[in-house]
Amino acid sequence: MDALNVKSLWKVYPPRVEALRGIDLSIEKGDFFGLLGPNGAGKSTLIGIICGLINKNSGQVSVHGVDLDTDPYSVRSMLGVVPQEFNFNIFETCLQIVMNQAGFYGIEHSVAKGKALELLALLGLSDKLNVPAGRLSGGMKRRLMIARALVHNPEVLILDEPTAGVDISLRRSMWDFIETQNKTGMTIILTTHYLEEAESLCKNIAIIDKGNIIENNSTSSLLHKLNRETYILYCEEIEDLPSLEFDLEKVDQKTLEVRLKKTQLLCDLMADLKNKGIVVRRVKNKVNRLEELFVNLVEGGEQDA
Ligand SMILES: Nc1ncnc2c1ncn2[C@@H]1O[C@H](COP(=O)(O)OP(=O)(O)OP(=O)(O)O)[C@@H](O)[C@H]1O
Ligand SMILES: [Mg+2]
Repeated sequence: MDALNVKSLWKVYPPRVEALRGIDLSIEKGDFFGLLGPNGAGKSTLIGIICGLINKNSGQVSVHGVDLDTDPYSVRSMLGVVPQEFNFNIFETCLQIVMNQAGFYGIEHSVAKGKALELLALLGLSDKLNVPAGRLSGGMKRRLMIARALVHNPEVLILDEPTAGVDISLRRSMWDFIETQNKTGMTIILTTHYLEEAESLCKNIAIIDKGNIIENNSTSSLLHKLNRETYILYCEEIEDLPSLEFDLEKVDQKTLEVRLKKTQLLCDLMADLKNKGIVVRRVKNKVNRLEELFVNLVEGGEQDA
């Protein structure tokens, strides 16, 4: 049984913004699933519908086999949601916010308190228990929303751009935390604009654009589709750029850029450069690989072999 199953989902905002145009999507239990797409693609709308916060026009949504229309309460109780926008009462304290959420799910007070304290500690907010949420920094507010989403032990955690505006070290620790949840069997569904995050975390990825799913595959198969990669080569002083069978460009006296086709090998390029007396000291990918693919798919860039 799938963690999430979506069939022919349509959403039209009045007067006629077709935010979702018949989306089909299934996500397996235990998956770490990435939902990617440009601004306005329909990601938050999809998440809003799954959580019962936005009404769909047509289509079906089920979570662990339970239909959203038939039993919205059960669906809601299986989901933990971290929305894109902060949506808590800024005058309530961190502890109150997490405990009130537990109250919505009928969790007994003492159990809720223990769980809230545990989650807030795991998310590094132990010293903010009695601080009103409005006085937290942006990154702390995100972590508070994660604690709140997890208090009722959901089977599926949905995160809508959870790391927007979160600094790098905090992002890393947030992902460590979420990966740990995933290892315990929790299904994770996330949207992010940080493609390197999706590349390193997600097992499967769907790309949504203008209300349609334009790709839905394992992360490794998606990356396999990439036909060209751009590398930057940091070299020792380059006199003249030799002519080689590679798409090479001299950026400055010590830097080359190469666009390597899938059929070309980096080691062949290195050997050729060495033969021509060019010493390559370091190599790096110019852009993240998923980013290159994403741009190709969404902006219709070149896809030559
Ligand atoms: N409440 C609303 N009323 C009318 N149109 C809306 C509403 N919410 C979203 N839309 C429109 O629906 C489309 C999809 O928006 P949505 O917020 O789902 O995109 P998104 O993929 O989450 O984008 P982002 O990456 O910017 O968060 C956009 O054209 C948006 O303008
Ligand atoms: Mg959004």
